[in-house]
Amino acid sequence: MTGNALAMFTLAHLSDPHLAPLPAPRWSELLGKRITGYINWRRKRRFVHDPAALAKIVADMQAHVPDHIAVTGDIANIALPEEFRRGRDWLESLGSARDVTFVPGNHDIYVQEAAAYATRQWGAFMSDDDGVGGFPFVRRRGPVALIGVSSGVPTAPFLATGWIGTQQLAALAAILNDLKNENLFRVVLIHHPPVSAAGRHKRLLDAPVLLRVIAAHGADLVLHGHDHVNMLNWLDGPNGTKVPAVGVPSASAAPGTDKDAAGYHLYRIAGAAGAWQCELISRGIGEDGEVVEEKRFSLVA
Ligand SMILES: [Fe+2]
Repeated sequence: MTGNALAMFTLAHLSDPHLAPLPAPRWSELLGKRITGYINWRRKRRFVHDPAALAKIVADMQAHVPDHIAVTGDIANIALPEEFRRGRDWLESLGSARDVTFVPGNHDIYVQEAAAYATRQWGAFMSDDDGVGGFPFVRRRGPVALIGVSSGVPTAPFLATGWIGTQQLAALAAILNDLKNENLFRVVLIHHPPVSAAGRHKRLLDAPVLLRVIAAHGADLVLHGHDHVNMLNWLDGPNGTKVPAVGVPSASAAPGTDKDAAGYHLYRIAGAAGAWQCELISRGIGEDGEVVEEKRFSLVA
């Protein structure tokens, strides 16, 4: 894909694959928060996250030949070292690190040591144009600038909160401001939703600061996962503009649970700064078990 702003660029977004089955943990690995997560997986989550559903979603997405794929976290479940090795295989099955961008979720950075596992196994998918890691990072692909933010932090048991932190937020503000001059469609990737009706135990705790950064410097699109449902919220941008924040269901959710069945989104992006066009196509597993188009509408006319 070249930088030709007239060409259509297709960005695919999926999230929260929560790869199953969970590798058998060693007893020594089930200390601390992992034990509650393991019990939760055995009792509930293993019946939700279905490898067959994920395979259908990925196959349907690949059939649409996206120019780039964004994955907004939660490959892992309780951040066992083996989950990072399997996660790397899965990311590589989607495409090369050039064509796939990842930001971690709370289940990836589930325990303190997990950030190092993520960097080791998934670093190539979470680095900037020069291959440098750390958050936020910027990748320029065609007319799009992908800005990867990490909201995954270890928390106490039964909490799934997110935290960006002042350093990352200050860097994000500077990046969004600088990118204004580059005529790029700015897409912020973050695991936790900036706006959510979910309970306090799973919110992004510094979301108010993120909203202020977006209001001051703008963005063209914010993509997230975490709540495992289709979501659209309009955030305030500068000068009365609005910024869509869009969430996808878990890419592996079996139909018939209390959350949306597995799905993903395609964004068809064209135009240039001041006159962007962006169409959202939502696809997911329908009643007959096949992946179907659920919605299609313009986010920017
Ligand atoms: Fe998740």
